[in-house]
Amino acid sequence: MKMRILIVVCLFLTVLTDLVAGMQIHVRTSGTVGPLRHFWKSTGFRKYHEPYSGKTGLNACSLPPLKPPVYNFTSLDSLIDLLYANGLKPGFELMGNPSGLFKDFEDKTSLMIEADPLVGWSQDEEWRADSTYAAIVAKLLSNDNAFLSWSPYQYTQRTLLARFQMNNTSPPHTHFFQKPVYNGMELLSLLGEIEVQSKITYTNGEDLNTPLGVLASTHTPVTNHTADSWQTTVLMYMSNDTGPQTDKAYVYLSIDIEPPRWASQELHMVGWWLDNTLGNSYKLWDEAGRPPYPTLELQHQMRTISNSPPIFNQPVQPGNQFIGKFFIQEPSIVVVHVCSKPDAPPD
Ligand SMILES: *[C@@H]1O[C@H](CO)[C@@H](O)[C@H](O)[C@H]1NC(C)=O
Ligand SMILES: *[C@@H]1O[C@H](CO)[C@@H](O)[C@H](O)[C@H]1NC(C)=O
Ligand SMILES: *[C@@H]1O[C@H](CO)[C@@H](O)[C@H](O)[C@H]1NC(C)=O
Ligand SMILES: *[C@@H]1O[C@H](CO)[C@@H](O)[C@H](O)[C@H]1NC(C)=O
Repeated sequence: MKMRILIVVCLFLTVLTDLVAGMQIHVRTSGTVGPLRHFWKSTGFRKYHEPYSGKTGLNACSLPPLKPPVYNFTSLDSLIDLLYANGLKPGFELMGNPSGLFKDFEDKTSLMIEADPLVGWSQDEEWRADSTYAAIVAKLLSNDNAFLSWSPYQYTQRTLLARFQMNNTSPPHTHFFQKPVYNGMELLSLLGEIEVQSKITYTNGEDLNTPLGVLASTHTPVTNHTADSWQTTVLMYMSNDTGPQTDKAYVYLSIDIEPPRWASQELHMVGWWLDNTLGNSYKLWDEAGRPPYPTLELQHQMRTISNSPPIFNQPVQPGNQFIGKFFIQEPSIVVVHVCSKPDAPPD
């Protein structure tokens, strides 16, 4: 009887696997494509990386402190060029353009109008609340964050943080919670300044039109013998923009990790995952009935989930490495970050 159940389960899993697109991503860290310009202007991961932090005793690439990036809208033209150069086709409403008018990105004039950060930012949009927005931002490598949301749209306006004005206390006070898009910006800040080769092949030989993208990069320290070190970051994202998020895929990721000879060959790898469960404080707030004044317990849960720990955190060898099989569902961002041991302890 047990055997029969087992067989049925196996068959079911096989069918399930067949229904889901499968693809292989192969990254070559020594295959330079060109400079990767950071249009989101973050503090960068150089200064803040403490991969071998003596303080915590953890051998881990850590995320930089939370500093919302500042972006530069005058670079939008170049951004669109870069996206096209990277094979990304941003044929959807950029920055939540509420009118949905400007779908043709060849038409840059309209783009500049659309790029006006004051247009439609306060529009209440569900997709801005959860990881849908984060995955779009990963696709666009751009965002804006200059606004403060208000009740009852704490999450659904175009902001990186959800603002809660707690008027039920005397004096009233304010809480901010990281939206998934904010966590997504943090993940983008892990990208280095050189884009390297990545190739997607489909296990059954055909392009299934799955909206999965990959961006691989390396980072080289500006000066030697510092706390900074050679690093490589692979960012995978799956997003159907603001449309229904139903696609999923199995991704087999392998990386030829080739640190330059002058860098330490002692490597550490950390994996980060962001989707509508992991890292999504909006989901908890929504499930709790969207209270204007979240209880202390809910606040705690929202903060905990916003700071979800890495999905893996372990040493890795240089050379060709199979990193793992990932089951990715829209909307999500998955980042694999490898750093070589720096010469000096963190500043
Ligand atoms: C924004 O980008 C443009 C073009 O790349 C550049 O000339 C300008 O200095 C940038 N502005 C800021 C504030 O960095
Ligand atoms: C809290 O007070 C501010 C300022 O008076 C107001 O704008 C806001 O709507 C109030 N928030 C809630 C949830 O009542
Ligand atoms: C760091 O050292 C290596 C070899 O020791 C050298 O090839 C490289 O150019 C140096 N980098 C800088 C920025 O000085
Ligand atoms: C993606 O979104 C579009 C609408 O923008 C929708 O027509 C399409 O069915 C969606 N794709 C999937 C696989 O759900």
